[in-house]
Amino acid sequence: MVTGRFERVRAVVEAIAGMLRTAAAEPGDTALAAQRTLDRLQTTALSRDAFTDRPPRSADRHQPLLTQAVDQMQSPLLLPLQRALRAAIDDLVWAEDQMKYYAADADVGLGYRNGNLHTLLIGPGACGFEHADFTLGFFLLHPHTLYRDHAHPAPETYLNLSSRSGWRFGQSGWRDLGPGSLVYNPSMAPHATRSYEQPFFSVFSWLEDIAQPCVVLPRDDWTEIEADLEAMKGHGITG
Ligand SMILES: [Fe+2]
Repeated sequence: MVTGRFERVRAVVEAIAGMLRTAAAEPGDTALAAQRTLDRLQTTALSRDAFTDRPPRSADRHQPLLTQAVDQMQSPLLLPLQRALRAAIDDLVWAEDQMKYYAADADVGLGYRNGNLHTLLIGPGACGFEHADFTLGFFLLHPHTLYRDHAHPAPETYLNLSSRSGWRFGQSGWRDLGPGSLVYNPSMAPHATRSYEQPFFSVFSWLEDIAQPCVVLPRDDWTEIEADLEAMKGHGITG
C-alpha cells in the first residue's frame, strides 16, 4: 500500500499510543502516567486535516547516532514503533535544543549543549499535529553524556527506547532502566539522565503547563560523573 507523509507520521503516533496502552494496563505506578499521557493524546486532533505537514529536516551531524538509536530498539515490545519510525524518519523535523527549553545562560553543560536532538510529533510548531499545551516527541542524547539535574513545571513522561539508560530522581541514587520502561516526573520534580555506550533515546511528553522553561538544579557531583562517562569512551566499559 502506498502511503504518504500523513499516514507515516500518524503511524508513529499510533505505535506510541499502543505502547502507552500496554503500559497503562500493567500493574505499578507508571500505569497512571501512561494513562495521563493517553488522556492528553485524546485531546489532540490526529486527522488528515490537522496534519501540519512541515518541511522535513534531517538530523545532520546526529544522523549516525539517530540510526544507531533506532537500531538498538530490539526489544519485541519496541518493534512496532521501530518499524513505524524507520518508515517516517525522513518525514520529521529533527532539531537541536538551541536552549529553547532553558534560559540562555543555564548551566546545562557541554554534554547536553552539543549532544541533544529531538523532534516534536505533537505540540506547538510540531511536524505532526498542533497542540497548544501538550507535547509528544522523540529525544536523543549522545552516548556517555550526563543530562544534568533539572526540573520544570510541566509533568513529564519518558518512554525509554534505549537498551539501558541511567536515571536519578531527587536525592536518590542512580539506577538503570531498560527498554520499554516508563518514567514519570511530576511538576518540578528534580531528575537527571545519563547515557552509556549507546545513545539515550526516548519518547518524551510534557502533559501540560508547557510554556515554562526548565531550571537546572546544581549538584556537586556533575564534574565527577562527567569525567567517569568521558573515561568510558573507547574502552568498551558499559558503566
Ligand atoms: Fe525533564
